[in-house]
Amino acid sequence: MKEQSKILVTGGMGFIGSNFVRSVLGTRPGWQVVNLDALTYAGNPANLKGLGPDAASRHTFVRGDIRDTALLLKLFFTHPFDAVIHFAAESHVDHSILGPAAFVETNVLGSFRLLETARQRWAETGSPSGFRFLHVSTDEVYGDLGPEGAFREDTPYQPSSPYSASKAASDHFVRAYHRTYGLPALVTNCSNNHGPFQFPEKLIPLMILNIVERKPLPVYGQGGNVRDWLYVLDHCEALLRVLESGQPGETYNIGGGAERTNLEVVHHLCDVVDRRLGRSPAQSSRALIQHVTDRPGHDRRYAIDCAKIRRELGWVPGHTFEEGIDATVSWYLENPAWVAHVRSGEYQKWMDQNYGGRDAAG
Ligand code: NAD
Ligand code: DAU
Repeated sequence: MKEQSKILVTGGMGFIGSNFVRSVLGTRPGWQVVNLDALTYAGNPANLKGLGPDAASRHTFVRGDIRDTALLLKLFFTHPFDAVIHFAAESHVDHSILGPAAFVETNVLGSFRLLETARQRWAETGSPSGFRFLHVSTDEVYGDLGPEGAFREDTPYQPSSPYSASKAASDHFVRAYHRTYGLPALVTNCSNNHGPFQFPEKLIPLMILNIVERKPLPVYGQGGNVRDWLYVLDHCEALLRVLESGQPGETYNIGGGAERTNLEVVHHLCDVVDRRLGRSPAQSSRALIQHVTDRPGHDRRYAIDCAKIRRELGWVPGHTFEEGIDATVSWYLENPAWVAHVRSGEYQKWMDQNYGGRDAAG
């Protein structure tokens, strides 16, 4: 990437996208960002509030849908993009179980239209070898693991949920566009992120807020499912390395090396939040844990083998699990206005829909 670059970020008002936009504007002073986001329930302009004047002058927000080819063409004609970083997606497994159609629309069809527009413009402008299309994907495409082993870049795809199936489909399209048309595309498959600006439908922010408010802590099944947690800014740093130094056509797995069962995560969050709020051990929030009906098709265990990105691009996570969680908890405790805003509107409806029908797990 050149010192003066213009990049298209899709989904830059979501959780990881907004952290990435902040990272880019903060660390790449010559870069300009065009941020295309449809502002679904998960997209929030408040995630990029408070950028300083220089950063704000290099950020252009466009409200729009990645399925809208006419809009995409207009953007690609107006801006000579040096790279596309594609985050926009429906991202929540539980939502995909209750309503899979939106996942096909955005994650499959939307990704295809973005890819096709990028390819057309890339070809029409002389197929510059420096152009990059970075597709941000998930470790869930690999399915689940038994007690041993970790996902490598050559692990076969075996998605379990409509969400992971839709992400798998988009990954395949991106690789096919590299092989067939030579588009300089890269794919990253990352494990579970946590950090600032994550919508509180996901495990960690949901639990932090419920612990603060002394609400029940709904753990699916027995809570023995394992996830590999990564602090979001470490993911953003890995994405920058892949964008700037990764080999087109390659895939890079990204993970935190921090495997925890869900119950371990919830216990840790109870302890950290209780300590911050000055609660005594007798008032432990662990008592709020409720085991509820499991997620259908729930993957048992994810773990990432990060050897390739470490070896080839020198990336390792900058935060331990405990350091990352401390930062995440601090952010949610210090930003009550952001929390109140995202929990207004559709949020309560989702909570009733997802948790209302779950019984206590046996
Ligand atoms: P998110 O749900 O917080 O944000 C998604 C963003 O995409 C929102 O701002 C939303 O408004 C936007 N969007 C949705 N549909 C759109 C459309 N049709 N057109 C334009 N914009 C649209 O998601 P996230 O957690 O930040 O995840 C970002 C990406 O990273 C996703 O592709 C996801 O699959 C991937 N990923 C997430 C994680 C994780 O732990 N959250 C881990 C690995 C990979
Ligand atoms: O692995 C990467 C993926 O991580 C990303 O691709 C997804 O976009 C992201 O949402 C995340 O998927 P998960 O399904 O793993 O995340 P979630 O936070 O929804 O759930 C984490 C674990 O916690 C999972 O095993 C289900 C469990 N869980 C979740 C919720 C919301 C509970 O036990 N109770 C809950 O209320």
